[in-house]
Amino acid sequence: MNLVVVSNRVTRGNVNEPMTGGLAAALLPVVEKSGAIWVGSSGRVRDGAQKEPFAEIEALGAGALAMLDLPAAHYGGYYEGFANSALWPALHSRADLIRASQEDYLSYREVNAFMARALLRFKKPDSAFWIQDYHFLALGAELRDLGVTQPIGFFLHTPWPARTVIEGVPHHRELIKSVLACDLIGFQTKDDCENFLEYLSSSLGLGIEDGVVTSGHGRSRIAVFPIGIDPEKFARQAAKAVSHPDVSRLRRSLNGEKLAIGVDRLDYSKGLVNRVNAFDRMWTLQPALARTVTLLQIATPSRGAIEAYGNLQGELAQLVSDVNGRHGEVDWTPIRYLNKGFSQTVLAGLFRTAQVGVVTPLHDGMNLVAKEYVAAQNPADPGVLVLSKFAGAADELDMALLVNPHDIDGMARTIAVALAMPLHERRMRWESMMARLRSHTIQQWFAEFVDALQDTQINRGAAMRPVTTEPPTVWPLRSVNAGARYH
Ligand code: F6P
Repeated sequence: MNLVVVSNRVTRGNVNEPMTGGLAAALLPVVEKSGAIWVGSSGRVRDGAQKEPFAEIEALGAGALAMLDLPAAHYGGYYEGFANSALWPALHSRADLIRASQEDYLSYREVNAFMARALLRFKKPDSAFWIQDYHFLALGAELRDLGVTQPIGFFLHTPWPARTVIEGVPHHRELIKSVLACDLIGFQTKDDCENFLEYLSSSLGLGIEDGVVTSGHGRSRIAVFPIGIDPEKFARQAAKAVSHPDVSRLRRSLNGEKLAIGVDRLDYSKGLVNRVNAFDRMWTLQPALARTVTLLQIATPSRGAIEAYGNLQGELAQLVSDVNGRHGEVDWTPIRYLNKGFSQTVLAGLFRTAQVGVVTPLHDGMNLVAKEYVAAQNPADPGVLVLSKFAGAADELDMALLVNPHDIDGMARTIAVALAMPLHERRMRWESMMARLRSHTIQQWFAEFVDALQDTQINRGAAMRPVTTEPPTVWPLRSVNAGARYH
């Protein structure tokens, strides 16, 4: 099988460069090994009609990485517009933040159609396409419209919310019917899967039997595939990284205080304001904890052109400064707040240095930081994970201290419990979580989805939609990139 993986963001993956986003970082090692072609945005845009949309195609492990310049006229409406101002808030149950114009929707559709045309270059009789995430909800249907009959899979990395929230997204019916052009549709958790099925039956009136839905596109299997990490590799990286200069400097600067760490994109779904409020509350309720623990909060700027993100950045900066102003001492800063990205190597070392990992999103698809924090710990003296029960990871990491991120007092108490937890309990909890990570790795996730996609070659027969578009130009590979090694 010739696997083609598609995501908006891709990465060449240098462990020493700042990481950008969980999805791309998670996919890199497995795509690299699989021999698949990974197609995504180059991060640049281009004007006008493009005969050759691929900016670069280069070898990636046993396969290739193919990067497209997306159309300049539609990029903003697609990325900042429909994907991240309508779909992202809805998928994270923030219907109040949904902003969508008709132009944005049209741009989103244009970019999905553009990607479909570009993908035809990699279509072979034995190809299978695996679409990642909410940027490409319409891509499966666009591929079918272009006559693609090969297996198509879709995996959603975010949560899937309650039906009433999705109904707040303009054109939700059309979009979700497009997803049903895929043979296999995967979610992170059972709750996400159930919410999706409930939408299909209640809002679209579709019949579902044993996780298989029948629509105008034929039959699609809906299933749960919780994404994992490579825990052994991350553990080795963390053990080595403790001697990295950034990590050593941090340790030296602590003056015997304990360290709690949070690492997130600066996104309203991550619960950052509530987290800072919880630390504020903890130091207020238990003044003896002042000077005994410092919070290192890394909040990497993200999607800054969108108003809700700009507002959050301002609010959080103000709040951190207020908390530091009230609790700080001449020689102690309660919260070290950094708006920049760090490499995976440095992050692994920081996680291992911290006695408490705070991962408290209001909603999150999986949250791989939670898994990485666990994998990074020293088995002889592991730290404690404080985890939101609304992160997908909570289904698996139930030996973390689970919190409700809306309950500030509860979080404050739980962080204090984490700081005081005796070694035997920390080890017992860590061993149980690590065993789970070892038994559900990213390699298994990838293989299980691809196997299921191969098995799901459901006969679409008469239910297939007719080809409605002219076959597109198939661009000659040679002209793309003189150094490209992909054939
Ligand atoms: O589904 C989540 C995701 O796509 C992950 O890749 C990552 O957590 C984040 O969103 C990245 O967002 P962006 O590509 O907009 O920076």
